Amino acid sequence: MAKRDVIIAGNWKMYKTIPEAENFVERLAPAINDIPIEVYLAVPYTALFSVAQKAEGSKITVGAQNMNDASEGAFTGEIASKMLTDAGAKFVILGHSERRQLFGETNEFINRKVKTALESSLVPILCVGETLDERNAGQTDEVVRQQLTECLDGVTPENIDSLIVAYEPVWAIGTGENATPEDVQEEHSFVRKVLEDLLGKKVADKTVLQYGGSVKPGNAKILMDQPDIDGLLIGGASLSTETFAEVLENVSTSKLNI
Ligand code: 13P
Repeated sequence: MAKRDVIIAGNWKMYKTIPEAENFVERLAPAINDIPIEVYLAVPYTALFSVAQKAEGSKITVGAQNMNDASEGAFTGEIASKMLTDAGAKFVILGHSERRQLFGETNEFINRKVKTALESSLVPILCVGETLDERNAGQTDEVVRQQLTECLDGVTPENIDSLIVAYEPVWAIGTGENATPEDVQEEHSFVRKVLEDLLGKKVADKTVLQYGGSVKPGNAKILMDQPDIDGLLIGGASLSTETFAEVLENVSTSKLNI
């Protein structure tokens, strides 16, 4: 089996002021020094610069939750990739289901952003996942394949330096409902197969696949014990230093030590 990095990411969504964000990092950084895991934090734009500075020299990598595909221009309220890198971002979440559902983002728009992120040396965390209706209709694989195919259109093995795909079933986000580890493993293995079809085996083997949706300290380890779950994308449980550190601790006693 390919050896892949383990990357646990927190997505803070629209939470935390600058002092709250700084305080979180000041407390988390020393607690995770010895854990063999990469920790990503997707923070609000306003906190990016100061959090990136505070995280310097620690295991924490800082990134953003969205961006526009254009390099600059008259797009009121939008943010460009170079503004993110300028502030210290190393990655960006793209195509989160909240962006798709609440702000009408399409695969075509997300595809443009993925290409911009890759050109800007920002690691894209590309989110895919089905709604409850789609799941109940047996369309999960079809939906996920279409999202991957359209969002990665025009991306080639040569221009892809680093990519993370997050499988986040929409019905499991913020609901307390979990996909079972076996279900997630099956879907991740499908995602890897689609990535192989699109970008070849080498890229598919090295792509970190994260699961997101109601991850808590109590279920993080059993999820991470699955061979194709290489990381987690965590919303609610990433907002408290204690809970997030507990997730990281639990994950570090799972497959990492085998
Ligand atoms: P929850 O962990 O709160 O379910 O959120 C998941 C998510 O949307 C992460 O991007």
